[in-house]
Amino acid sequence: LNYRVPRTRREIFETLVKGLQRLEYRGYDSAGIAVDTPSKDTKDGNCNICLIKEKGKVKALDEEIHKKNTLNLDTELDTHFGIAHTRWATHGEPSAVNSHPHRSDKNNEFVVIHNGIITNYKELRKYLNLKGYEFESETDTEVIPKLIKYLYDNRENDYMSFSTLVERVIQQLEGAFALVFKSIYFPAEAVATRRGSPLLIGIRSKYELSTEQIPIQYNNGHYKEGVKDRNFRNRVDSSSALHSVSAGKAVEYYFASDASAIIEHTNKVIYLEDDDIAAVAEGKLSLHRVSRSAGEDPVRVIQTLQMELQQIMKGNFKAFMQKEIFEQPESVYNTMRGRICFDTNTVVLGGLKDHLKEIKRCRRLIMIGCGTSFHAAVATRQILEELTELPVMVELASDFLDRITPVFRDDVCFFISQSGETADTLMALRYCKDRGALTVGVTNTVGSSISRDTDCGVHINAGPEIGVASTKAYTSQFVALIMFGLMMSEDRISLQKRRLEIINSLRTLPEMIKEVLLLDDNIKSIADELYEQRSLLVMGRGFNYATCLEGALKIKEITYMHSEGILAGELKHGPLALIDKHMPVIMIIMRDACYTKCHNALQQVTARQGRPIILCCQDDPEILKNAYKTIELPQTVDCLQGILSVIPLQLMSFHLAVLRGYDVDCPRNLAKSVTVE
Ligand code: G6P
Repeated sequence: LNYRVPRTRREIFETLVKGLQRLEYRGYDSAGIAVDTPSKDTKDGNCNICLIKEKGKVKALDEEIHKKNTLNLDTELDTHFGIAHTRWATHGEPSAVNSHPHRSDKNNEFVVIHNGIITNYKELRKYLNLKGYEFESETDTEVIPKLIKYLYDNRENDYMSFSTLVERVIQQLEGAFALVFKSIYFPAEAVATRRGSPLLIGIRSKYELSTEQIPIQYNNGHYKEGVKDRNFRNRVDSSSALHSVSAGKAVEYYFASDASAIIEHTNKVIYLEDDDIAAVAEGKLSLHRVSRSAGEDPVRVIQTLQMELQQIMKGNFKAFMQKEIFEQPESVYNTMRGRICFDTNTVVLGGLKDHLKEIKRCRRLIMIGCGTSFHAAVATRQILEELTELPVMVELASDFLDRITPVFRDDVCFFISQSGETADTLMALRYCKDRGALTVGVTNTVGSSISRDTDCGVHINAGPEIGVASTKAYTSQFVALIMFGLMMSEDRISLQKRRLEIINSLRTLPEMIKEVLLLDDNIKSIADELYEQRSLLVMGRGFNYATCLEGALKIKEITYMHSEGILAGELKHGPLALIDKHMPVIMIIMRDACYTKCHNALQQVTARQGRPIILCCQDDPEILKNAYKTIELPQTVDCLQGILSVIPLQLMSFHLAVLRGYDVDCPRNLAKSVTVE
């Protein structure tokens, strides 16, 4: 929304489309945009809204915009509010009609964009159908614009504000949402709200902002009771003028689900909390809630983000994923920076230190995550058990919730999530909080829902991760969890030797990662041989089992080959039946406590004419004898070896995907941040 900042229509479109492109890496299938019509035709003195929606990538939408010659792109607008959205299909196939913005009616009186899922949409749709509303899409979202129009048409006075209407809408909604509304009846006014899905507001002004925090205005149920107070809107507006940002000065507001969409315009942002309603009218931003609950913070702070645009640009790499794989010497270093003192062998995680006593007293540690983040928990479970001397459970968030797992006040629950927004992980967090457990976030996204809703936590500081397939976040989560183990064991005399070994290995880890990255050509040549295969098995055990799961996940995600991570200890119990001379197998055999057992597995594979590609330590003649191909890695301490062994598999999946002709950063059917259940 630009207020008293003249922008051409072209600039408005460009800003919105660019914002969508910055988010497109998450994987989307259609896009849409709503702006005011270029003509001066107005309806009841208000503007008209023009809606453009396209199936496919944001580029298709952009092309459609430029094809239309009625848009008067050079017209300058002093004040204007436009919205745009990219969709990842949940309800209804990817198509123009199912994409957002959704509208109330053929005149586009209200248009809405939505992230999340409305779980009671069927009931609402039925009700609105009975009231004569006709639906054009198969989406859950469409009930929202229909509902707001219904409430508008049946309002009890003419002075009801846009934010009041939205407040009434969300009282009827169940599920998760981040919503932005635009209406012909409230031109140049924006209203946005959220529950369970992230939403932030960027503020850009050439003037100093008049405030660093915005107080919430509590409506104390006035709206709910439907008070017919003709002056009510005026009252609300005059109080908001005192507290709002900008106070009538030229200003631009950016509403977004992720900071990367707006960071090139401003680094001043406000993160909305669940059920906050943000309204901009006459350039002034005000925040509303129905009522204040106990212990609730009555202000929202304007924060300054440190993220740089260039941090999220691709540079000379073919894909963000490739760039992120090669960034790992630095990203892993950044996870440790300022937290490990190599002189005193101490580790301090600032976000956890005040809770350490409580954590040490707990009954067990429960590590919860999805996808790659879950694998980081699997990878570090053994060393955490060793260093903390506590039982450690590792849990997939969805399964943890399905099982209604018993959780107690003296449990400590870790929520591991790159984005900090994954719906399943977030729901597991709420579940554990309700049961009184101490909650710890391990995320890569400052200000994310998980980092805000947990009692304490660690930021992994890996920098923005754009590729849908997670790489550097995994190795940084791995390091962060090990640092937690080191912090927990600082006063255990019996563990000092082990700690020292790990701390010394962490010191040399970035250099070792660089060495592994030099193997890229070797890995590419193996990929050249494998890329036409249908299947690829990855086998290992002990500290390297997680690498098998994570490597197989990378291969599935971006190459669409079938791939399985197999625990070598289970070989005889099933997977051995898959082995013959045609089935490609990658085996991980490192010099650790499982070496001999892994060797046995190797014998079993070669006895069935399998031709294993072996990830092993440098200079291992025994392995060389039995391998079809080898990828030789530098050796580090057993519990960190998984960081080095996963990188060749990240590179392998990247090369396989490129050779198979797929879009590495936007794999089909997958999204970076899965904010729906
Ligand atoms: C999605 C992504 C995966 C990721 C998982 C968990 O499925 O495609 O790459 O591992 O979500 O994401 P989180 O942000 O919670 O780590």
